[in-house]
Amino acid sequence: MFDHPDYDGHEKVMMVEDAESGLKAIIAVHSTALGAAAGGCRLWTYETPGAALSDALRLSRGMSYKNAMANLPMGGGKAVILGPVLAEKREAVMKAFGRAVDGLNGQYITAEDVGVSVADMEIVATTTKHVGGLSAGAGKSGGDPSPYTARGVRVGIEAAVRAKLNRRELAGLSVAVQGLGHVGMYLCEELFNLGANLVVADINPARVSEAQQRFGAVGVSVDDILTQPVDIVAPCALGATITEYAARYIRAGIVAGAANNQLATVDSGRLLAERGILYAPDYVINAGGIIMVQGELSGDNDAAVVTARVDAIGDRLDAIFKRAARDNVITNEVADTMARDKLSAARTHVPAVGGEKTLSRI
Ligand code: NAI
Repeated sequence: MFDHPDYDGHEKVMMVEDAESGLKAIIAVHSTALGAAAGGCRLWTYETPGAALSDALRLSRGMSYKNAMANLPMGGGKAVILGPVLAEKREAVMKAFGRAVDGLNGQYITAEDVGVSVADMEIVATTTKHVGGLSAGAGKSGGDPSPYTARGVRVGIEAAVRAKLNRRELAGLSVAVQGLGHVGMYLCEELFNLGANLVVADINPARVSEAQQRFGAVGVSVDDILTQPVDIVAPCALGATITEYAARYIRAGIVAGAANNQLATVDSGRLLAERGILYAPDYVINAGGIIMVQGELSGDNDAAVVTARVDAIGDRLDAIFKRAARDNVITNEVADTMARDKLSAARTHVPAVGGEKTLSRI
C-alpha cells in the first residue's frame, strides 16, 4: 500500500465489504489538516479493484487540493463504490455505504459524484449524518451540486478568456464540450445563454440530441471532440482524457472544464503549456459543487451567498494565470504549489480548542 504509485501520505484508506447488500467500496481520507475530509462518492464499474483504488487515492488527494484552494475549512477524501450494483440492491448498498461512512465518525463527509444521485444520498442519510448534497429548501443551496459546478466552470472559462484572448465576453466564441452529463449539460446552458457556439460529444447519443435541440450545438464523435477547431475545450466527462497525444493535437487555445484529473500525465500538462495552450487547473475551476456542499453542511447556504463564493473561482484563476506567466511555470504546478503550501501551513497550525478543525461540526 505505502509503495502504491498513487499513495500520497493518505491518512486512512478503508476497504469496505458488506456481504448482505453486496457493497464493495473504498473510502480514502487524504488529509484532515484543514477539517473533515470531504468529497463525493463515485459509483463506477472498474476493470479491476486496483483501478478503483487508484481512483480513490487520486481523487481524494485532488479533494484536499480542491478544498484548500477554495479556502474551505475541509480536508480531502473520496469514496468509490465498485459497480455494477443491481437495481434491486441499490437501496441496501447505499445504506451499507452510509454505515461505513458513519463508522468514521465525521472524519469523512460524503456527497454525490459520478454515478450517484441526490436520491442515493437521501438513502445514505438514513444511516449517517455525515453526508451533503441533499435536497434543499427554497432560497437555499443544496441538492445536486452540478449547476454550481457548471457555473464555476463558466466563470473559470471567462477568466481564461480574459487571460489568453484578452476578451471580456464569451459571445461568438466556440467551445467544445466533452461529456454532456450533469455538469456538461448545465455548462452548455450557461455558455449558450452568453452567446457561445457549442460543439459537443457524448457516448450517449440522447444527450447529444438534447444539446442540439436546446442549444443549437453541433454534435461530433467522441474521438474528435478534443481536436475541434474551437477557442476552448471543456473536458466534462471522466478524468485523464488529456493524454499526451491529445495535448499534441488540441487546436483550442484554452482547456477549461469540469472533469477531475483531466491531465493523464504530468507531461500532458507540459505539452499544453509548450504549445501555448492555457490550462485551467481542474480542481480549482471545478470547485463550485463542493463550495455549495460546504455551505449546505455548515448551514450557511443562502443561495445568493453561495453563488458569490462560486464566482470567486474567477479571481482565483486570474491569480494562478498571472503567477504562471510571471514565474514561467505551468498553471497546474502553480496550483499544486499553492495547495500544498496551504496544507502544510494547516498541518503545522495547532487550532484552538473548538476551532475549525473539529471534525464532527459539519
Ligand atoms: P455524469 O456521469 O453525469 O456525466 C458524465 C458524462 O460524460 C455522461 O453523460 C457520459 O455519457 C459522458 N462520457 C463518458 N465518457 C465519455 C467520453 N469518452 N466522451 C464523451 N462523453 C463521455 O458526471 P458529472 O457529474 O457531469 O461529472 C462530470 C465530470 O466532472 C466528472 O469527471 C466529475 O468527477 C467532475 N466533477 C463533477 C462535479 C459535480 O458537481 N457533478 C463536481 C466536480 C467535478
